[in-house]
Amino acid sequence: MKLVFATHNPGKLQEVRELLAPDYEVIGLDELGDHDEIEETAMTLEGNAWIKARTVWQKHGLSCFSDDTGLEIAALDNAPGVFSARYAGPSKDADANMDKVLLKLEGSSNRKARFRTAVALVFNGNEHLFEGTVNGEISTSRSGSKGFGYDPIFTPHGYTESFAEMDAKTKNEISHRGLAIKKLVAFLKAH
Ligand code: IMP
Repeated sequence: MKLVFATHNPGKLQEVRELLAPDYEVIGLDELGDHDEIEETAMTLEGNAWIKARTVWQKHGLSCFSDDTGLEIAALDNAPGVFSARYAGPSKDADANMDKVLLKLEGSSNRKARFRTAVALVFNGNEHLFEGTVNGEISTSRSGSKGFGYDPIFTPHGYTESFAEMDAKTKNEISHRGLAIKKLVAFLKAH
């Protein structure tokens, strides 16, 4: 069965494709010839995930899932949350985003944070939502150079290394996105 992953990100696509083969053929938007950016205008991760999955279902009539992720920092009332990519401005600059977080938390002893991923699935017209969360702490400076986004300043609970110091396999096993996708895969394997 064909299943669309509403993303233009080839890295994300490849990862999920391997998990669902051979039962499902996962195709990205670019392979569908759909190069439009879907505007993420909702105020929640779930809302944005639904916008993307429903847009594809309505436009192409194909079952579809999408993901949306945010970093939620307790001392900042769960900011940047849904605005994680653009926290320091529209250029989506990861370094500037990390600088902004470190500055806002300067002197703060509460450094609790979590990454949260919402995965929305429209499957034969029926809607299902999956969530993955990883709890951790924002460090006082960067460490590591792997990964992307806020990885150098996030240390998951139970570990001494930041996400940016872990190899991709270790990170995927415990990460927000990894956990949410695992739930999606378990659902799809059972259907
Ligand atoms: P997206 O919904 O996957 O595009 O993620 C939105 C933003 O959250 C990204 O641009 C990053 O700033 C941040 N982000 C998402 N996942 C991760 C991660 O695994 N590590 C670090 N930052 C992440």
